Amino acid sequence: MTTQTNPNKLKELLPASAIAEIEVWLAKYPPDRRRSAVMGALTIAQDHLNHLSTETMDAVADYLGIPRIAAYEVATFYSMYQLQPVGKHVINVCTNVSCMLRGSDQIVGHLQKKLGIGFKQTTQDGKFTLREVECLAACGGAPCCLIDKTYHENLTPEKVDQILAKLD
Ligand code: FES
Repeated sequence: MTTQTNPNKLKELLPASAIAEIEVWLAKYPPDRRRSAVMGALTIAQDHLNHLSTETMDAVADYLGIPRIAAYEVATFYSMYQLQPVGKHVINVCTNVSCMLRGSDQIVGHLQKKLGIGFKQTTQDGKFTLREVECLAACGGAPCCLIDKTYHENLTPEKVDQILAKLD
């Protein structure tokens, strides 16, 4: 069975401004290398649609004119892509070696108690999703986390409280 592709579907899912952003990414590469823009396009789609559903990944692939599997490969490999619905703010806590040695367990315990959720869960008010991630490449600032698109380093429970209090 051949699945029908639809290069126009993405324009139904995203505002024109987002399509324009994707076109900026496409312009960075030669016309026969549209696949190179897949990470940028997926990120923009996710920013607008909360997460990447199969429908969204298909639409991105079709828009770029690449095999749908190429979008799935990227979206399922990198931890910054969300394949399930998430809260308004996504807290990615690193528990890899450097962060573990510098107390990430304490940070995780504090967050789980404060928010009342475990990893891969979202608070009932839809405000926070908590995720465990591998090394965020910020080991010098361990323990650290990435909240939405902002790094927070040298965390303590008190610092976590201050950071969360500033998020609306
Ligand atoms: S181990 Fe946590 S940022 Fe590298």
